[in-house]
Amino acid sequence: MTNFLDIHTTPKPDLRSMIDAARVMKAARGDAPKATPDAEQPLANRMVALIFEKPSTRTRISFDLGVRQMGGQTMVLSGADLQLGHGETVADTARVLSRYVDLIMIRTFEEATLHEMAEHATVPVINGLTNRTHPCQIMADVLTFEEHRGPIAGRKVVWSGDGNNTCHSLIGAAGQFGFDFTFTGPPPLDPEAAFMDFARAQGVRAEIERDPVRAVEGADLVVTDTWVSMHDPVSARERRHNQLRGYQINEALMAQAGPDALFMHCLPAHRDDEVTSAVMDGPQSVVWDEAENRLHAQKAVMRWCLGV
Ligand code: CP
Ligand code: NVA
Repeated sequence: MTNFLDIHTTPKPDLRSMIDAARVMKAARGDAPKATPDAEQPLANRMVALIFEKPSTRTRISFDLGVRQMGGQTMVLSGADLQLGHGETVADTARVLSRYVDLIMIRTFEEATLHEMAEHATVPVINGLTNRTHPCQIMADVLTFEEHRGPIAGRKVVWSGDGNNTCHSLIGAAGQFGFDFTFTGPPPLDPEAAFMDFARAQGVRAEIERDPVRAVEGADLVVTDTWVSMHDPVSARERRHNQLRGYQINEALMAQAGPDALFMHCLPAHRDDEVTSAVMDGPQSVVWDEAENRLHAQKAVMRWCLGV
């Protein structure tokens, strides 16, 4: 089964061909109204289940729209709609869903749930975010960087803040797409060493630099995300804010990165916490392109999964 579970577990050439396919599909649509069907309809007669055990704006809407543009149909399901949360096992849910739909996208909590779904489904499964990873976001980020700046290979990408799920998939991408990665944040919030080791094993730099000013020197791209993720306890909020205050992306920090550095955030953003409005709305920010590119990147991911 061709599952899209994370960046570091997907073959390098396939990742590259998905990014290239996304660029071509985006260009082919031009400025067509959003619901205009694509000229090619590779998902005709296909049904896609979109399961959300956590809230979502971008993932929900971009997947739903992408399936429709490619001629398929969707069922958007919340965790509470399913028997999943009421004692039916993930494995049994996977077996049943596979009899009704051709592709499953799931946003869930534990990564084990995603893997159990993939193991027992007989249709492809896509990771729409877990507590540990967020690969669809990073496909959109690579597409966005390359639209603005050309090949990402050999560039320097800096993550400031919490070493979270989105950060982990970005580090995987460093290894797979061949860019250098620097994490800057406080030690308790470091990304998992396994992702840093994976990137280094692919021959790129993966470094930790505690000083955000030094970290962003020479950066081609500066990235951050919320300081408190959906799976983090609300009680962690105050502590996180105290730990991370010095890692805010503001104009002073972007000035250290230099005028050519881009800024990205997967969104939703908390303005004046992890990023100031001056940066979000400033000339280096490509966050709206990044959000749009979820659509185009995921269409390529779905085609790859289905081999269509
Ligand atoms: N970036 C992202 O995944 O956004 P949503 O949580 O709105 O889907
Ligand atoms: N790290 C964030 C990403 C949201 C898209 C979270 O998990 O809440």
